[in-house]
Formats: sequence, C-alpha cells, structure tokens
Amino acid sequence: MRILVTGAAGLLGSAVVRTAGERGHDVRAFPRSALDVTDPGQVDRRLRAEKPEVVIHCAAYTAVDRAEEESDQAMSVNRDGTRNVAMAAAEIGATVVYPSTDFVFNGRAGTPYRPDDETSPVSAYGVSKLAGEQVLAVSGCSWIMVRTSWLYGPGGWDFVDVVLEQAERSGGMSVVDDQVGCPTWTGSLAPGIVDLVEAGATGTYHLCDAGQASWLALAQAVVEEAGLDLELTATSTLAWGAPAQRPPYSVLDCEKAEGILGRDMTPWRESLHTYLSETL
Ligand SMILES: NC(=O)c1ccc[n+]([C@@H]2O[C@H](COP(=O)([O-])OP(=O)(O)OC[C@H]3O[C@@H](n4cnc5c(N)ncnc54)[C@H](OP(=O)(O)O)[C@@H]3O)[C@@H](O)[C@H]2O)c1
Repeated sequence: MRILVTGAAGLLGSAVVRTAGERGHDVRAFPRSALDVTDPGQVDRRLRAEKPEVVIHCAAYTAVDRAEEESDQAMSVNRDGTRNVAMAAAEIGATVVYPSTDFVFNGRAGTPYRPDDETSPVSAYGVSKLAGEQVLAVSGCSWIMVRTSWLYGPGGWDFVDVVLEQAERSGGMSVVDDQVGCPTWTGSLAPGIVDLVEAGATGTYHLCDAGQASWLALAQAVVEEAGLDLELTATSTLAWGAPAQRPPYSVLDCEKAEGILGRDMTPWRESLHTYLSETL
C-alpha cells in the first residue's frame, strides 16, 4: 500500500514510518520541513503528486500547556491542517488516519471511555483535537480516527524521558497521582494503527496499551524497570498547577479496535519493560 505520513519526524510519526516500512508498504514520509499541513496548496500538490492510498496524519500541535496561550496556533494545525489533509485526500480517494487523544473527554467518567461516548474537552488542546475530528468526519473522505493516550517511545521527548533525566540531575521528583490514564508505547500503537489500515477499518477507535496507571505509578514503574536512584513523592493536580486542565480519568476502552485486530493490547507495564530493555 502507498502510505503518506505527515508529521513524520514526531514521536508517533517516526514509529508509524518505521512500522509501515517494515511491513513492506511504500511509505512516503514528510516531516514538517517538507510538508506544512497548514498550507492548503502545498498539501493538495503533495497528495496529487504522491497519490497515496492512505494518509496517516501524525502532524499535530501537541504542546498541551502552551495551547492555552496559543489556541489559534493549535486550531490552525489541528483543525485547519486536518481539514486541508482531508479535503486533498477526498480529491484523490485516499483514506485519512487521524490520531486523536483521550483529552477530548472531560475525565469525569468512572469506567473506561468507549469510542462513541460523549466528548467534552477541558483544555484548548483538547478542543483543537476534537475540532480536527469534526472537520475530518464531514470532509467526504474515507477516515479512521484512533484516539490514544500518554505516549512514549524513541525519537521524541516524553514523560519516560523526563523521569530518566530527573534521575541523572537530582535524587527526587514530585509526580501527580490524581490523574489516571493508559500509558502507551509507540511500539504498540504504530503496529495497531497499521493493522487497522490493513484490515480496511473505518470509523472511530480507541487504541492504547492495556490497564491503567497514574503518572506517579508510571514514574514508579520507570524507576523500577530502569533501576534508578530517584525518590518519588506524590503531588496533586491542584498543587502542580499546570496552565491546562487535564481529565482526571481518561482510561480508554479498546474493545472495538481489539475486535478488528483479533488480539488484546499489551499490558502497559509489559510494553514499558520491552521499551526500556531495548533502549537502555
Ligand atoms: N504524545 C501523546 O502523549 C499523545 C497522546 C494522545 C494523542 N496523541 C496524538 O498523537 C499524534 C502524534 O503526536 P506525537 O506525540 O507524535 O506529537 P509530536 O511528537 O509533537 O509530533 C507532532 C509532529 O507534527 C509536526 N507538526 C507540527 N505542526 C505541523 C505543521 N503545521 N505541519 C506539519 N507538521 C507539523 C511537529 O513538528 P515540530 O516538532 O517541528 O513542531 C511534530 O514533528 C497527535 O495527533 C496527538 O494529538 C499524542
């Protein structure tokens, strides 16, 4: 399959390029420097030239806290950029895969969110990602939305890197313990996304590693797996005082995607173990 990847140098984009290439697909990888999704003419010309059957649209504005001050930029990339990709894809008959986020939910549920549950983002970033979902849904192209959460992996800067770096710089770290979600390795997500594409899936899916954890539990697991000398102390979201509000509970129910994949997602702790043993 000919697959074009936007945002190809990002955390997820680089994993998708790697996985799709390993599966023998004809991958056309475009980092931001080669394809700016906010430029409709550039997007249109690039898709007409490359003629992909599938566009995995990993380009995104992902600075959750900064988005509170830069909501126009977040909208420009996440909503308008997605519209540009979707309209160009509709013209050439390509399917668009749009990674989205657990941050489209408000986090007040008590059970894992299913793909058709009501969305209600509590941050500017979440609003912009939901706007991207909405423009894609009415664009006329064939689409797959894949909501995921709490990503880590090679080729980016993520929470696991923060813990590893903190262990080198100091002996202690405060970590929020009242937000619960699904830590997810890009090494689990990228194969899942490519599996959905290969299966010809359409519609909205949730895809993340299995189980749930707080940020503190994830940090503790990194400390244990990597054998770090780092003392962790619990703090609250309120005390942490980040500019953007985050959902307190954003566990995603992956049953629908697992039905297509024919397998269960890997428990998050197992994925973390594999990632760190490959990396360290
Ligand atoms: N990371 C997470 O925990 C997480 C959780 C849930 C969902 N997601 C979703 O997963 C997707 C991928 O996120 P990620 O973690 O891989 O983020 P990332 O590492 O920040 O990658 C996003 C990429 O998009 C590029 N980009 C930004 N503006 C662009 C533009 N105008 N045109 C083209 N490319 C542009 C960025 O380039 P620059 O670096 O040069 O700006 C970056 O390489 C996003 O849709 C995100 O919402 C991520």
